[in-house]
Amino acid sequence: MLTVTDLVQRFRVPGGMMNAVAGVSFELGRGRTLGLVGESGCGKSTLARAILQLTKPSEGSVRFDGQELTTLPKAGLRTMRRRIQMVFQDPISALNPRRKIFDIVAEGLVISGLPAEQIRPRVEAVLRQVGLDPELVSDRRPHQFSGGQCQRIAIARAMVVDPDLLICDEPVASLDVSVQAQVLDLLDEMKHRTGVSMIFVAHDLAVVRNISDDVAVMYLGTIAETGDTAAIYDTPAHPYTRALLDAVPAPDPAAAPSGPALGGEIPSPMNPPSGCRFRTRCPIARAECAAHVPTLREIAPGHRVACHFPLVGEAAVFAEEAIADAPKAEAAPAAAAAEPTPEAGREAPKQG
Ligand SMILES: Nc1ncnc2c1ncn2[C@@H]1O[C@H](COP(=O)(O)OP(=O)(O)OP(=O)(O)O)[C@@H](O)[C@H]1O
Ligand code: SF4
Ligand SMILES: [Mg+2]
Repeated sequence: MLTVTDLVQRFRVPGGMMNAVAGVSFELGRGRTLGLVGESGCGKSTLARAILQLTKPSEGSVRFDGQELTTLPKAGLRTMRRRIQMVFQDPISALNPRRKIFDIVAEGLVISGLPAEQIRPRVEAVLRQVGLDPELVSDRRPHQFSGGQCQRIAIARAMVVDPDLLICDEPVASLDVSVQAQVLDLLDEMKHRTGVSMIFVAHDLAVVRNISDDVAVMYLGTIAETGDTAAIYDTPAHPYTRALLDAVPAPDPAAAPSGPALGGEIPSPMNPPSGCRFRTRCPIARAECAAHVPTLREIAPGHRVACHFPLVGEAAVFAEEAIADAPKAEAAPAAAAAEPTPEAGREAPKQG
């Protein structure tokens, strides 16, 4: 359904150029959900927008259902955008405050030229599917609803055109925990009901676990690890994935996270570390990590990791000890030992 290859999104910023997405490749199968996870600023939203061609990618390819989107003329993009819909993090600001809910949800159908007599039943059916009573909500405006209800309206607006791909950019991040679960359940139910493929963006690995078939972990504009959900949660092979999982709070709020918290500052994407971008925070970094960029390579069918010393086999034993000894929430000393050699360039070439 979707093949992204060597995608780069470069922005001009004060002081130079910055690769917010620095060479990302992945595939998404029909009817599957990819959880895209990483810390704030790692490029998740930029990647989502580049897939949808809301910003023109600087390099690389986005193929959707066999069609190359990066070179598609405007008319083709308009048609394609009906097939790829997006749900944003802040539902209240994503909905036009002056329009009635019925008109907000109907907009995509109106643009597609569907006859008026077919629009009303379709809008009402989708409102019911997201748990809203069309009689009660159709004539109201967004400010009369809670955040969770607005997110249901945003999901209805996206799903009303029967898209093939739904990109959800942190759709529950701004909601209360109890409401988050309801919206996640709704998206999961929609996915099973319609067979829509989904990219689900989140900060937190815990949020995407139940809804995702596959997970991609992003770090500083690149993919650190990707694989099916069981592989990522049960046998994480990248030290960054491992650190994110260790930082997931236990179900008991009084209990501490199970492992060392991820320490150190996230480097600036304007000036990423040479070699492995994670090396300045990695508890098992070695000199080689500063000199060479790790490419994504397959360590098991469908499970790919960009690390010179993935946490598998013998390397895992060494890594487990180093991670256990790593100081909590501080830059790891091992990383300091791996400062770049003078010949190692600052800007890493993109991943394969
Ligand atoms: N239009 C732009 N011009 C310049 N820099 C940008 C632009 N859009 C994003 N950036 C920068 O690109 C980097 C990635 O931003 P992005 O919003 O994609 O991160 P994110 O992973 O979605 O973060 P968050 O989890 O906080 O939403 C950041 O350093 C951000 O400041
Ligand atoms: S071991 Fe090296 S290559 Fe692997 S994540 Fe750590 S710094 Fe990067
Ligand atoms: Mg974002």
